[in-house]
Amino acid sequence: MALVTTTEMFKKAYEGGYAIGAFNVNNMEIVQAITEAAGELNSPIILQVSAGARKYANHTYLVKLVEAAIAENPNIPIALHLDHGADFDICKSCVDGGFTSVMIDASKYSFEENIEITKKVVEYAHAHNVVVEAELGKLAGIEDDVNVSAEDSSYTQPDEVEEFVTKTGVDSLAIAIGTSHGAFKFKPGTKPQLRFDILHEIEQRIPGFPIVLHGASSVPQNYVKIINENGGALKDAIGVPEDQLREAARSAVCKINIDSDLRLGLTAGIRQVMNEHPDYFDPRQYLTVARANVKDVVAHKIKEVLGSAGKA
Ligand code: G3H
Ligand code: 13P
Ligand code: ZN
Repeated sequence: MALVTTTEMFKKAYEGGYAIGAFNVNNMEIVQAITEAAGELNSPIILQVSAGARKYANHTYLVKLVEAAIAENPNIPIALHLDHGADFDICKSCVDGGFTSVMIDASKYSFEENIEITKKVVEYAHAHNVVVEAELGKLAGIEDDVNVSAEDSSYTQPDEVEEFVTKTGVDSLAIAIGTSHGAFKFKPGTKPQLRFDILHEIEQRIPGFPIVLHGASSVPQNYVKIINENGGALKDAIGVPEDQLREAARSAVCKINIDSDLRLGLTAGIRQVMNEHPDYFDPRQYLTVARANVKDVVAHKIKEVLGSAGKA
């Protein structure tokens, strides 16, 4: 199967009450881990690439790795998506460079500017059969070294979504309902709670329209523990409870973004092997364990959180 857009994936996910996992890729091991898990579970999947990933690994390498993953897993639909495109130029570059989906993240601008920038990307992308995700509202947390404090974050305003979707022609919408980027999402002692009231109001205002959740890692404590027991220092790393993500996946939320949990699995594997075997210096020794952890994370998400197993 060639790369697909998210159109069909989201239609089926919306109707079927499940969500598609969108996992960030930065290197070969991560691409392999995600697509092997999805292939074995017969799940559709979105591989997403940030500006930082393109800078680290190079656009062509990432596209070719994804092409290899498709050849190895020909039976599942795979979309290749630009995560958090900051402007028209990076979106255009990914449209021209073989991606099937791009995100224009103009959420830091005014509502009117966000519409204007998003509309320009939609016109270009649609002319090339590429779909577009945009964002309304502002998530807290860290993305591409930009740190948005909890005070500067803002929930999506439901009364803005119809106008935004109609005027831009966008294909899916990322909303802010209490998730945040990174591994330190909530203060210790506070009870994480997504704003399902806002999600449901948005759902009612734009029925049938696919919603996206960013910052949806759950920060598995088993990996945090392994990291900290093997020389790491991740204090108060807290994520979104999985039962809340499961509830979101049953609603209009069709795409759930996960990056930090993969990083934790990968880092835990590397730290553990390096600590237990100070004599090892062959990267295959520690990356094999690290890659297996990432695969476990993805398989767990597909089965226990997203509900996308068997939906390919
Ligand atoms: O939302 C941000 C993603 O986790 C990507 O992170 O920009 O460090 O690659 P990155
Ligand atoms: P996490 O940091 O919660 O994994 O979020 C990733 C994300 O939203 C990528 O766009
Ligand atoms: Zn994000």
